[in-house]
Amino acid sequence: MTVQLIRQHYRKTRQALSSDELNQNALLLKHRIDSYLGRIRAQKIAAYLSVQGEISLNPWIAGNQKHKIYLPKLYEVTTTKLRFAALSEKTVWTHNRFKILEPDCGWGETLEANQLDIILMPLVAFDSSGNRLGMGGGYYDRSLAFRRSRTHWLKPRLVGVAHSCQQHPQLPQQAWDIPLDCIITENEIIYPAG
Ligand SMILES: Nc1ncnc2c1ncn2[C@@H]1O[C@H](COP(=O)(O)OP(=O)(O)O)[C@@H](O)[C@H]1O
Ligand SMILES: [Mg+2]
Repeated sequence: MTVQLIRQHYRKTRQALSSDELNQNALLLKHRIDSYLGRIRAQKIAAYLSVQGEISLNPWIAGNQKHKIYLPKLYEVTTTKLRFAALSEKTVWTHNRFKILEPDCGWGETLEANQLDIILMPLVAFDSSGNRLGMGGGYYDRSLAFRRSRTHWLKPRLVGVAHSCQQHPQLPQQAWDIPLDCIITENEIIYPAG
């Protein structure tokens, strides 16, 4: 199967989930993320606002007290990499060109990916080796390209977040793809071997 067909298949699978399933998975996910975070030291965490059947982080965001949460933000003219804006009660919102809500703030108030401790990443499909298929824009790959030249462990930890039905047996890997350090679904935390 080509990357395009795999993407199409899992986008459909994700969007076919009922609102009950979406709500239940989001609640189960919250507990899995809390248990994952209980084991590691982290302060700054990037999350996302779910669209098109993506598993929702809203219950986790609403219950969070310990961590500072950031959301991805696009500045198409200046860079094709994601920047990350802090979320607070005072956040003012705007829509980006994909009609996704993002904080309305200036460049100087945002961080780049390597300033975060953890990035919770949405995805279309994943596999047990940590390969990630996104929506096709390559935004996370570009923003995390610095990871390819790393020879030793450094932040941020890259955590894919998904419904368990988005697991594919083995995804094709492309030269620019940045693999995940772990994947959290409503059912389990998966640590790729190796
Ligand atoms: N580090 C990078 N530098 C330049 N372009 C990149 C980089 N990473 C990804 N891209 C571009 O993004 C496009 C989409 O990447 P892809 O991995 O297919 O999307 P996604 O990760 O969203 O599934 C690629 O065709 C490639 O041109
Ligand atoms: Mg990719």
